[in-house]
Amino acid sequence: MDGRPYIIINMAQSINGMIAGSEGKRVVISSERDWRRVRELRRKCDAIMVGARTVMNDDPYLSTGDGDHTEDPKPARIVLDRRLKLKPESHVLDGKSRTIIFTSNMERTVNGAEIIRLKDNDLKISNILAHLYRIGLMKILVEGGKDVITQFLMEGIFDEFYLYIGNIIIEKGGLLLFDPSVNIKNASMETKVYDEGILMRLNPEKIKKVSKW
Ligand SMILES: NC(=O)c1ccc[n+]([C@@H]2O[C@H](COP(=O)([O-])OP(=O)(O)OC[C@H]3O[C@@H](n4cnc5c(N)ncnc54)[C@H](OP(=O)(O)O)[C@@H]3O)[C@@H](O)[C@H]2O)c1
Repeated sequence: MDGRPYIIINMAQSINGMIAGSEGKRVVISSERDWRRVRELRRKCDAIMVGARTVMNDDPYLSTGDGDHTEDPKPARIVLDRRLKLKPESHVLDGKSRTIIFTSNMERTVNGAEIIRLKDNDLKISNILAHLYRIGLMKILVEGGKDVITQFLMEGIFDEFYLYIGNIIIEKGGLLLFDPSVNIKNASMETKVYDEGILMRLNPEKIKKVSKW
């Protein structure tokens, strides 16, 4: 890869490691203060990236204000949607800020977004990032979901990783962020207490693998 944008990952999980309820149902995990922190991170980035299932399940605005209220600066919204299944009424297609979709669907069109069509095999995170770098998006906040985050972790492509652990337990059947097979490459960690939860910051400096215990 010639160059890539600076990558910040942000996620919130429950005490028992879940990022959503059963069938991907949205669960509020972040505290108010944590939300303010996330909105501040969004303001500092050129774009916010999510996977298609996050858009389908949560229908986020990915705005820098409350709800659909997007303040300046307006980061672009990037959706990874291999099959281009997004519903036309999705909030990310509301035209309030730039939206870019990466897909291998060569036919369907949607209003409210620029569509970048690549062959299935070319939809690798490294290719996608090289493309975003070429069009001048230099700092990207990756906000989920599990599938997308896992690809970044497995490739070791990130510069900062914030993980907020809220004071809730999501019952069995939820979506677990880290499968045991996921190897977080190049990460060390700092933690601090944040409201009723804990904010962890993982730094890509040291490798710590535990395969036997
Ligand atoms: N707690 C949190 O912080 C947080 C944040 C965001 C989302 N979430 C939760 O996470 C859940 C969704 O996570 P998820 O793992 O199911 O899905 P996801 O990562 O949001 O999206 C997966 C989708 O993106 C497509 N995709 C993934 N990588 C791609 C690539 N490189 N190029 C093109 N398309 C790509 C996949 O297509 P293919 O399957 O065809 O590859 C699939 O349709 C939601 O329920 C949401 O509530 C939680």
